[in-house]
Amino acid sequence: MKQQLLPSQLPQHIGIIMDGNGRWAKLRGLPRTAGHKAGAAIFKKIMTHCGERGIKYVTVYAFSTENWKRSPDEVHALMDLFMQYMEDAKNYYKDNIQIHIIGDRTPFSPEMVARMEACESDTAAATGLHLNVALNYGGQHELTQAMQKIAQKVKAGELAPEEITEETIEQNLYTAGMPPVDLIIRPSGEYRLSNFMIWQAAYAEYVFMDTLWPDFGPKELDKALAVYAKRNRRFGAEEPEDKK
Ligand code: FPP
Repeated sequence: MKQQLLPSQLPQHIGIIMDGNGRWAKLRGLPRTAGHKAGAAIFKKIMTHCGERGIKYVTVYAFSTENWKRSPDEVHALMDLFMQYMEDAKNYYKDNIQIHIIGDRTPFSPEMVARMEACESDTAAATGLHLNVALNYGGQHELTQAMQKIAQKVKAGELAPEEITEETIEQNLYTAGMPPVDLIIRPSGEYRLSNFMIWQAAYAEYVFMDTLWPDFGPKELDKALAVYAKRNRRFGAEEPEDKK
């Protein structure tokens, strides 16, 4: 299906909750890790497609602050996939994709943190899609860290409490300087935000789909974009006269 959407109908920033890898594998009698491997391949394909569609920002939920509760084998396999992905950074640069790794890096090995930094610097000059890969990310944790940074500034006398605005909070999030999330896509038939981008998605449109993430192809992305283009976004304002 060729998409005929105008640039003004496209979301500037999409958040994707890549869900359903485990169920996809189970349906095929495969280990969960095989689902993640298939999910990683689809993820790369979808990011290239987003770039080709002219999307400016995408944030993907790859590993949450809660995902450490999974079996050591599964966590290990996921870390291997993230390492491999970051190792190939130069390929994404060729696709004009600039990568940012967002989330709390404290629990990761020094080798992995070094790989994150290298991946970001190897793609920094790309001018197309800005891709945020959320690793050890949690929206509540992100806000807590932002509050701590702001409180430090207040304590140091650099900021008065009454000077704290919504912008102050935004500037202290991992997504500082990026536009808010316009569209959240969650595949796999789950209807939750799961602690993802809870500040940035305040006015986002949600598109929930039944497809499991490893089956989520460019066609599904185009379907989500078409649904988004038909939504009437009001940001709390009155319905315009011509839409009543
Ligand atoms: C949730 O599905 C998915 C994850 C916790 C991992 C997401 C990771 C990938 C898509 C692969 C690698 C990504 C990168 C950035 C290289 P689930 O396992 O909870 O699925 P289930 O609900 O069916 O069990």
